[in-house]
Amino acid sequence: MIEAKSIGKFFSVINEKGLAEGLTAVLNVSLTIPDGKIVSLLGPSGCGKSTFLEILAGLQAPTDGTIHIDGKLVLEPLPATRKEQIAYRRRYRFISPLANGVFRDHPKHDIAMIFQDYAVFPWMTAIQNVEFALKLRNAGPAGKRLRRNEIQEKAAFYLNKVDLGVFAHKYPSQLSGGMRQRLALARALSVEPKIILMDEPFAAVDALTREKLQDELLRLWDETKNSSNPITIVMVTHDVPEAVYVSDEVVVFSPSPGTIRNRIPVDVKRPRARTEAELIEIQERIFAMFQYDLNQESEYSI
Ligand SMILES: Nc1ncnc2c1ncn2[C@@H]1O[C@H](COP(=O)(O)OP(=O)(O)OP(=O)(O)O)[C@@H](O)[C@H]1O
Ligand SMILES: [Mg+2]
Repeated sequence: MIEAKSIGKFFSVINEKGLAEGLTAVLNVSLTIPDGKIVSLLGPSGCGKSTFLEILAGLQAPTDGTIHIDGKLVLEPLPATRKEQIAYRRRYRFISPLANGVFRDHPKHDIAMIFQDYAVFPWMTAIQNVEFALKLRNAGPAGKRLRRNEIQEKAAFYLNKVDLGVFAHKYPSQLSGGMRQRLALARALSVEPKIILMDEPFAAVDALTREKLQDELLRLWDETKNSSNPITIVMVTHDVPEAVYVSDEVVVFSPSPGTIRNRIPVDVKRPRARTEAELIEIQERIFAMFQYDLNQESEYSI
C-alpha cells in the first residue's frame, strides 16, 4: 500500500530579474493507494504530477509530508547494488531509529519507474536493456542472486511477454516508438516490482498504438492480479479516456499548485470496452471539470 500524507513541494527559483522566488509545485496531497490497483494522476501541464510521482519513487524529497510504502518511510530510492546497500546502512545508522528500521532488511526492490523520454538506453540492445535492469537489481542475499544464465532467461522471458522476442538484438533506434515503450515495460516488469510508476508512458506514440499498449499493460497487470505479488500501477497521463479506461481510480489535480481536485473511482468491471456508457459518462464529467477550471481562470485573468 502506498500512503502519501500531506505531501508538499516547494522550489526556490530565480526569476528573470535575478531574484529568488518561491514556487509551490505540489500542495498538501494525501493519497492512499491499495495494493494491486491502477491509479491515474490526471491534470493540466505544470500542475506537479511528475514531481509528485518522483516523490513517490523517492527520487525527490518532499518539503512537507511523508510517503510510506507498505508501512515503510520512503526517504530516497532504495539501493540497487550491494555496495550501495552497505553505504546506505552506514549512512542511516545513527540518523534515526526509524530509518534504521527501514534499511535493516535487505533492500526490497519494490518500485520500477518508467520515464517518458529516457525510458531505455540507446547504446544497448533490447535484451541488454532488460538484462541491465536485472543485473542492477541483483543485490539480494547471496542465495537469491540470479546467475548469468538466469538473467538471460528472465530477460528473454519478459521480452517475449511484450512480443519483442524477435527484436532482442536490435537497438532502440531500430525499434518503433511503440516497441520502445514496450521494451521499457518489459524492463520494468522484469524486476518483478510491487509498484510501477509511469510518467506519461504512452504520450509519444500514435493513437492506435497507444490503445494497444494500454491493453497490453492491462493484460500484464491482470496476470499478476491473483498472484501473491499483485502489481500496483500509478500512471501520470494527460489523456482523459486513457485514464478512465485503465484505472480503478482517477485522481484529478488542479492547476498549479498541484492539489487533488477530485478523486473519481471507476467501478466498472474488467475487461472493459472503450465505448461503455459508464466510462464515457466519467470521461465527460472530467472534461466538464477541466472546462470549468479554464472558464474560472479566464474570468480571473480579465
Ligand atoms: N527542479 C525544479 N526547480 C524548479 N521548479 C521546478 C522543478 N521541477 C519542477 N518545477 C516546477 O514545478 C511545477 C510542476 O512541475 P511538474 O514537472 O511536476 O509538472 P507536470 O504536472 O508533470 O507537468 P507536465 O504535464 O507538463 O509534465 C512546474 O511549474 C515546474 O516548473
Ligand atoms: Mg510531467
